[in-house]
Amino acid sequence: MAFTFFMRDLPTLEHAANHMIPHASGRSRIRVWEAGSALGQETYTIAMVLAERMNSFAFRNLTIEATDYDQANNFGDHVTSAVYPIDELQRTPAELVKKYFEPAEKPGHMRVTTHLRERVRFRYHDLLSLQPAGNDYCLIVCKNVLLHFQPEQRIEVMKMFHQALTPGGFLACENTQKMPQELSEKFEQVVPDAQLFRKVGV
Ligand SMILES: C[S@@+](CC[C@H](N)C(=O)[O-])C[C@H]1O[C@@H](n2cnc3c(N)ncnc32)[C@H](O)[C@@H]1O
Repeated sequence: MAFTFFMRDLPTLEHAANHMIPHASGRSRIRVWEAGSALGQETYTIAMVLAERMNSFAFRNLTIEATDYDQANNFGDHVTSAVYPIDELQRTPAELVKKYFEPAEKPGHMRVTTHLRERVRFRYHDLLSLQPAGNDYCLIVCKNVLLHFQPEQRIEVMKMFHQALTPGGFLACENTQKMPQELSEKFEQVVPDAQLFRKVGV
């Protein structure tokens, strides 16, 4: 089962939100792709971070498209039902738990509220197909996934991300994922303390 948790590397997600929101301002459809979502803990962390920062009108225009290739563990059912053991929420600030979770039928579990769940879609997708899950994304988050790929595969997947982003859109990776030199003309790093990149060119 994939390793992940709520609030993982929050500073990168906060930087991503702070840059993406003004970029997406005025759009009738704001698309975010979370590639390699696992069971959805990062998906709903992104949803909370955005819900806390976007006005209600913009938030209603948001779709977070969560994808993962792991069908064996039914990740899609987990992400869509959004039910998690209470123990997994220990790192989540109490005020966010109160606002965005409600008791689930299953004892000892909490369910993400409809307000966030309505913004999330899940589908199975293999990044190594090199076919983007969609296009016109204002933000792509792909964390702790690319490290599993060969260097050449990483470059091809990042080229695919570049293609799938809006002009000036953003790509967020984990802190150890440096941008390959070959792609220096396609992405520029936007903050010194996170692997957050802006698409350059078309
Ligand atoms: C360690 S988890 C990362 C979860 C989350 N992004 C995070 O940072 O906490 C890695 C995820 O990448 C997914 N993954 C690995 N190879 C993939 C591929 N080729 N296409 C799509 N997802 C993949 C795995 O199934 C797993 O859910």
